[in-house]
Amino acid sequence: MLNVLGARKTFEAGTPAARTVLDGLDLRLERAEFATIIGSNGAGKSTLFAAIAGSVFLDEGRIILDGRDISRKKEHQRARDIGRLFQDPRHGTAPGLTIEENLALVYSKASGRFPLSLAPRAKDRAYFRQVLSRLDMGLEDRLRTPVGALSGGQRQALTLLIATLVPPKLLLLDEHTAALDPVTAKKVLALTRDITAAHGITTLMITHNISSALELGTRTLMMNKGRIVMDLGAEQRRQLSVEDLLERYKNTVHETLDSDKILLSG
Ligand SMILES: Nc1ncnc2c1ncn2[C@@H]1O[C@H](COP(=O)(O)OP(=O)(O)O)[C@@H](O)[C@H]1O
Ligand SMILES: [Mg+2]
Repeated sequence: MLNVLGARKTFEAGTPAARTVLDGLDLRLERAEFATIIGSNGAGKSTLFAAIAGSVFLDEGRIILDGRDISRKKEHQRARDIGRLFQDPRHGTAPGLTIEENLALVYSKASGRFPLSLAPRAKDRAYFRQVLSRLDMGLEDRLRTPVGALSGGQRQALTLLIATLVPPKLLLLDEHTAALDPVTAKKVLALTRDITAAHGITTLMITHNISSALELGTRTLMMNKGRIVMDLGAEQRRQLSVEDLLERYKNTVHETLDSDKILLSG
């Protein structure tokens, strides 16, 4: 489904500040597979997502999605097939528009309905209520509330819903619960699990939380210095505790994972 072949990216090439952030990375993901990604700050995780989504172009290598080479496609051309969530819940929705306007806009765009419309049709509104009620945050009764008035967790849950309203071929989650309080983060993670499972969405999720990395999906990838240095399947993962994984990281990378600190502090 997704095939990243020999991805290489150097920022500020040819200057003293040159940094090779993707260093010949290969990754293959099957349809409906859900893999988590861990790795220290600067490992190149977000750059990998940027390269897949098209906000960064590779120097070398190819990105194949569903059999098509999308390496040279622009970001907006890939957006129909690739959903992306960021740490900051303000990404991905328009604050001045209401919940139903945000939903209507995405829905009319995704269903190829033109002109794009902010006004939902009656039957769309009923559908929006129904999907919003699954978030269990009372948003189904707040269709006319501007998205900017929601809490971070509510807004991120809504963004997840919007990104999957018409299921994408690939969903990229870049620490999408890191800015939320622990209770809300847990809720959004549960939603992530339910929504991706219900639609069989192929998903990559970057996380600093090692237990989430072992619990969600069926595969855990470890990135370091622009490569995938460890690839654990479901069976291998089942036998690993958080401590085991940190130990494996240390033995593989010869450094401690910087989320050790986060883990130990909370
Ligand atoms: N657009 C950019 N221009 C220059 N350097 C960048 C850019 N994006 C990322 N980098 C650099 O690439 C390195 C890896 O960053 P990133 O992919 O964000 O790592 P991670 O998400 O694993 O923490 C960092 O040193 C970062 O400063
Ligand atoms: Mg990052």
